[in-house]
Amino acid sequence: MDVALDHEVAGIAAQCGGGCTCSTCHCYVAEAWRQRIEPPAAEELEILAYVPDRKPGSRLSCQIFLDDDLDGLVVHVPPPEAPPARPLNSPGSP
Ligand code: FES
Repeated sequence: MDVALDHEVAGIAAQCGGGCTCSTCHCYVAEAWRQRIEPPAAEELEILAYVPDRKPGSRLSCQIFLDDDLDGLVVHVPPPEAPPARPLNSPGSP
């Protein structure tokens, strides 16, 4: 999370500052790396249960603690959420 914030990665807001309460640091760890990082703790799993677009490899980036063994770690950021649907014939509808 800190690395993403330092590099202004779009899609990582980290609103709770790493407190494991907001899920705005959600990311997908590339499959090749999943076994190389510590598994999520119960607290993280509770938050991940409510994350939209959860997939295998979903993690809260604030709970991934980098060390030299993770040099080259590959993660992806979820796509931005789709805008809410509008009823037909409302302003801005196609
Ligand atoms: S920064 Fe809020 S859960 Fe990770």
